[in-house]
Amino acid sequence: MSYAIIGFGKIGHALARAFARNGIEVAVATTRDPESFAADAAAIGPTIIPKPLAEAVKADTLFLAVRFESHPEVAKALPDWEGKTIIDAMNTQAPLEELDGLPSSAFVAKAFTGARLVKGFNHLVAAVLDRDPAVHGGRRVVFLASDNDGAAAEVGTLAENLGFAPIQLGGLSEGGLLVQARGKVWGRLIFKDLVKFD
Ligand SMILES: NC(=O)c1ccc[n+]([C@@H]2O[C@H](COP(=O)([O-])OP(=O)(O)OC[C@H]3O[C@@H](n4cnc5c(N)ncnc54)[C@H](OP(=O)(O)O)[C@@H]3O)[C@@H](O)[C@H]2O)c1
Repeated sequence: MSYAIIGFGKIGHALARAFARNGIEVAVATTRDPESFAADAAAIGPTIIPKPLAEAVKADTLFLAVRFESHPEVAKALPDWEGKTIIDAMNTQAPLEELDGLPSSAFVAKAFTGARLVKGFNHLVAAVLDRDPAVHGGRRVVFLASDNDGAAAEVGTLAENLGFAPIQLGGLSEGGLLVQARGKVWGRLIFKDLVKFD
């Protein structure tokens, strides 16, 4: 399984640090030449590999860590996303009318034709997601929601491998709304920094 983080800002850095902490290789990409953020990636760890976007999208599983308005541009990087898993870590200010009345991640799924979409890793501020998820003998919770149970389970395993405790919330229109931050309407689980003790 290969991984990529699209967007290397605050959330991209936090995710990259989780991969580095666990020695898991991940490509990182932005609109810029990878040379321009190579030193930044190297400072996080040797498993963080800067790539051009066109190369990074070859990964099996990709985190979307760009501003919501940039996701249609990312979607153009491939003619179709069959066989890929997209993890939507984005939140949006867009009003409901601009999202065709859909949950924000269902709207994103339409842009990435053929992909299996999982909403997740979006409910915490970047500074908290950035921290080591091992807390007082427990693990920081990340919430996952998807209309594809298989994809949700796979991303759950990835979340565990990154040191987090995944909690599955069900479909995008059900549990997904609990972690949807859209405009000034915040799902009830947004910003809830929870720790799970097994
Ligand atoms: N910040 C938070 O606390 C937080 C918390 C939860 C969720 N989120 C969500 O996470 C997402 C990212 O937030 P952020 O704070 O990390 O934003 P950010 O710091 O502005 O980073 C955005 C990144 O996306 C890259 N980018 C922009 N357009 C791109 C494109 N077309 N293709 C590839 N890369 C592109 C930017 O790089 P270049 O412009 O240099 O190409 C930059 O590295 C947002 O949707 C936000 O709502 C943020």
